[in-house]
Parts: sequence; C-alpha cells; structure tokens
Amino acid sequence: MPELPNIVILTGAGVSAESGLATFRGPDGLWEGHRVADVCTPEALARDEALVQRFYDERRVKLATVEPNAAHRALARLDAEWPGGLLLVTQNVDDLHQRAGAKRLVHMHGELRSALCRACGGRSPFAGADMGAGPACPECGEAGVLRPDIVFFGEMPYAMAVIDRALMEADLFVSIGTSGNVYPAAGFVQTARYCGARTLEMNLEPSLGATYFHESRIGAAGDLVPGWVEEMLK
Ligand code: OAD
Repeated sequence: MPELPNIVILTGAGVSAESGLATFRGPDGLWEGHRVADVCTPEALARDEALVQRFYDERRVKLATVEPNAAHRALARLDAEWPGGLLLVTQNVDDLHQRAGAKRLVHMHGELRSALCRACGGRSPFAGADMGAGPACPECGEAGVLRPDIVFFGEMPYAMAVIDRALMEADLFVSIGTSGNVYPAAGFVQTARYCGARTLEMNLEPSLGATYFHESRIGAAGDLVPGWVEEMLK
C-alpha cells in the first residue's frame, strides 16, 4: 500500500445502531415493524402512498431525537485530518455523519431530510414531519408531489460515477456496519479489491461478502472505529 493511501469507506445501518436507530434487517427481518418491500419500493409508494409517507415522516421525527456516536465522530475526524484522498459513502438515510462533521460524504441511498419532487425532479431540504400532508415543492411550486428522497429498490443509487471512480483509485476500502445484502453497495468490496485495494471490514458479525475482505474486525462500530482511526492518523 502507498504511504498515503486513497481511502473509500462504506457505512451501513450498523454505524448508527449505537445512536439508537434500528438497523434494516433485525432478527425478525423487519424494519421498524415493516417488510422492506412495503415501504421501500416504487410499487409500495404507488399502492399505499399514505403508509409510505407516514413511515418516513416517523423516521424523520425519530432522527431528531438521536445524536452521532463515537464511530461517526471518529470518521469525521479522519475526514478532517486525512491529507490524502478519502470518500465516505453511506447507505444510511440519516444525517449523523454530517452532524458529526463529515464533509467528503455521499449519500448513495438518499436522505431522510430531503424531498424529491415527482413533478420537476428537484431535490430540496425537508426537515418537517409532514411530507404526507402534501406541501408544495419549493422549486416548482406544485403541491402534493413531494416524495421521500430515498432510493427505493429498483431505483438508481445516487453518485455512482463518483463512487466507481473512487473505488477504482482506492488503495484501502473499509466497510463498516453493513450486512452486504443490497447491491450495488454489497459489490464495492469486489470492485475495490480487483482494482488493487486492501480491504477491511468492521461489523458486529461477518457480512455476506466477508470472504472478499483481507481483514475482518468483529465488534461494535463505536468500539472498533475510533481505534482504527487512531491507527490511520498516528
Ligand atoms: P442491515 O440492517 O442489513 O445490516 C446492518 C449490519 O450492521 C448487520 O450486519 C449487523 O450485524 C451490523 N451491526 C449492527 N449493530 C452494529 C454495531 N453497533 N456496530 C457494527 N455493526 C453493527 O443494514 P445495511 O447493510 O445498511 O436501503 O442495509 C443496506 C440497505 O438495505 C439500506 O441502506 C436500506 C436497506 O434496504 C435503502 O434504504 C434503499
């Protein structure tokens, strides 16, 4: 590995678990009591918009009650202090990485605190708890057309061109708190490794793609990530 490696870090729901946000695939396979297919697909939105809007409205309210944890803070510190290339890619729709101070960050699955307009395609900040009430789009003025700015199954994740380039240029790829169930994110380790990166996983349990990682550290993100960041910055 070069002296100053280019780093790509992928985070998933596990990084926010210690802040009090539920992961997607709990032991019961449900996300906050719902099947992912009932709240996270374009078909679900078309079938029962009220349910889907209420679900994300509730997630937004919950988000206002939680804080970044030690893992978010350590990653924000690495982002601020690492002099080389770094991209933090999160699958999470919470804003805990930003609130901890991360800047070189992309939200590949969208954001809870953002609205997507079905009339004009604009994305706008949305911090309220009432998208289901049909507020007007701040960009085009049309009412009742905002939907959660969440990448549903079957939709294209954001920032894929930026992510692909970073993976190809990465010397170190680190995956934190993700089960490896959902593509394309689950395949990033393979892309990075085949392009020459060293690969490290930090997770509570081995992920589905565990065999693609050169190194695996098993434990809670809040315990493991600060120590790893210290190692990188020393
Ligand atoms: P999952 O819920 O599938 O996986 C979370 C992973 O985090 C599991 O492997 C847990 O073992 C691990 N974990 C739990 N607590 C942890 C902790 N304190 N420290 C470290 N690891 C911990 O969540 P994701 O892999 O993020 O998509 O799910 C990927 C995507 O599936 C999500 O982004 C979402 C969902 O459908 C969209 O919203 C589009």
